Amino acid sequence: MTIRPVFVAVAALGIVVTSVAQVVTQRSRGEFMRQKLEFAKNVLEGLTVENFDLVEKNARSLKRLSMAAEWEVPEIPHVEEYLPRTAEFQRLCDQIVAAARARNLDGATLGYVGLTTSCVNCHKYVRGAGAR
Ligand code: HEC
Repeated sequence: MTIRPVFVAVAALGIVVTSVAQVVTQRSRGEFMRQKLEFAKNVLEGLTVENFDLVEKNARSLKRLSMAAEWEVPEIPHVEEYLPRTAEFQRLCDQIVAAARARNLDGATLGYVGLTTSCVNCHKYVRGAGAR
């Protein structure tokens, strides 16, 4: 059997961050996600009032938060399925930022719809993952 590079990468990441993850509580993850919700709401506000700076600023914050949250990845069951979801989330943040910079309201709105779908899909997966 050949070991796929992604598993090697995941294992290496796990070793590096496990010690950090151990001191992090469930509560702080909840706070992280609450913050995510705030930023996502701000993106929606920006879209509805056509404030592209607000859209861009909060989409950037969402991406930063997502990147900062990667330390907790080893706690997640079936982590090899979690990482692509995080990558997709960050890609959608970039898409919103690019559209906002181009003053493309429809593009930014489409990105937001995709982002919301990715929130829901990841949560469905996280809730289901433990039970499998
Ligand atoms: C890559 C996976 C992933 C994505 C994408 C994601 N989340 Fe989460 N979310 C989680 C995990 C993991 C939890 C924690 C579940 C738990 O501990 O019960 C969570 C929990 C939450 C919670 C509950 C926090 C609490 O009070 O306990 C909120 C609110 C939330 N997320 C908002 C969002 C929003 C808004 C988005 C999209 C903008 C989003 N999440 C995208 C993984 C994700």
